[in-house]
Amino acid sequence: MRLSGVLVCVLFIWVEGSWADTPANCTYEDLQGTWVFQVSKGGHDKTIDCSTQATDASTVTVTLQTLSVATDELGNTGFFTLIYNQGFEVVINGYKWFAFFKYTQDGEKVTSYCDQTLTGWVHDVLGNNWACFVGKRATPVAPRTDYKPVYNSRLLQTTYKHNLDIIDSINSVQSSWKAVPYPEHEKYTMQELHQRAGGPGSRIPRRVRPMPVKAEVAKMAAALPERWDWRNMDGVNFVSPVRNQASCGSCYSFASMGMLEARVRILTNNTEAPVLSPQQVVSCSEYSQGCDGGFPYLIGKYIQDFGIVDESCFPYIAKDSPCGIPKNCGRIYAAEYNYVGGFYGGCSESAMMLELVKNGPMAVAFEVYPDFMHYKEGIYHHTGLGDPFNPFELTNHAVLLVGYGRCHMTGQKYWIVKNSWGTTWGEDGYFRIRRGSDECAIESIAVAAKPIPKL
Ligand SMILES: *[C@@H]1O[C@H](CO)[C@@H](O)[C@H](O)[C@H]1NC(C)=O
Ligand SMILES: *[C@@H]1O[C@H](CO)[C@@H](O)[C@H](O)[C@H]1NC(C)=O
Repeated sequence: MRLSGVLVCVLFIWVEGSWADTPANCTYEDLQGTWVFQVSKGGHDKTIDCSTQATDASTVTVTLQTLSVATDELGNTGFFTLIYNQGFEVVINGYKWFAFFKYTQDGEKVTSYCDQTLTGWVHDVLGNNWACFVGKRATPVAPRTDYKPVYNSRLLQTTYKHNLDIIDSINSVQSSWKAVPYPEHEKYTMQELHQRAGGPGSRIPRRVRPMPVKAEVAKMAAALPERWDWRNMDGVNFVSPVRNQASCGSCYSFASMGMLEARVRILTNNTEAPVLSPQQVVSCSEYSQGCDGGFPYLIGKYIQDFGIVDESCFPYIAKDSPCGIPKNCGRIYAAEYNYVGGFYGGCSESAMMLELVKNGPMAVAFEVYPDFMHYKEGIYHHTGLGDPFNPFELTNHAVLLVGYGRCHMTGQKYWIVKNSWGTTWGEDGYFRIRRGSDECAIESIAVAAKPIPKL
């Protein structure tokens, strides 16, 4: 079953006058409480097709408590996390449960049923024994309705043209970063350029109150080096080359591949330097939506469950295509994947710095405002210039965090981030962005995954 949805870095399949697909929009509060999972007969392997399984063989009841503790009726404890506003994962008694929240769509009207799930997948933590399930909250939550914004489709089909006035204004109101016109942007339609950056429905829900950082985490982070850059560790580079996603909404796949590629290099001291296949995720993963978007957390899960082949085995074509991977291709698997900070909502600058230094680059997402498209160099922060400018509504975009530092002159703290818009964009394909103030929500949704290198 391939879900339709609007997630991180969305490519919209354009239907005249309306967006084709829209997401559920559920909260942590909706998820907290007691859930009954109706499960299909077990004993399947990972080729199970959950679109055809009847989920009435047995039931499992779990209670999801503050902040990430799951318990069952027998008193066993485990873990859970919300996945953005889309679904959840529960790990308890040696089983992993994952499902998207239920939703329906009628034109621009989207109804989220946050007390129910679509059919999801459950398997033991070793990936041997698979079944399907649907979840239902013991106490109901009222359905929630969102209206998707209406966009002018004719405008989206026109070729993008620079607005030099906006670029001049960005450069005159601040000196932290420099904006330029990109000639290569003018070969895209507004819609295609929008797809590179995300889509209108993919806002990162702002946290009203960020999690307080634990004193010991803050203390360990304060003891870290002043700067860190995995591209230059005493002259050695552990980061794979910058790539170009083109106009497919696959940034989440590139960010996840970039993380695993760098971490294999780190774990093997550069003796293994794979370039992995973002197309496999686009074409094969049922945990994400191909060129319509996806979430790095679920790509960590996909790679744990199914493994990922090399780029040469299944090359990138920047569009949805059938999953046709040659049989003899080797696969790399993930030993672990997690939200930095432990669960979605637990992220912080300190937790990200510690993860970066200890384990390597990680996938992050941030809100792309119109001014960001013009970024050339310096430390980016949102200027507000150019917004609102349809169709460049606020979107979110997954990228790879590779380092951090502090500006000598101004003392301004920044992150160093690898984009997937080619090497001519930004600082050789990278950008720097303000650190420590959750600029454009970049400190809200970091994901780490640990690859298992080849023997
Ligand atoms: C999701 O719901 C929140 C309120 O809970 C709202 O502020 C937000 O705009 C909604 N997001 C989308 C994409 O509809
Ligand atoms: C890692 O590789 C470099 C050469 O690139 C070498 O100088 C160094 O000794 C290696 N480190 C270890 C621990 O083997």
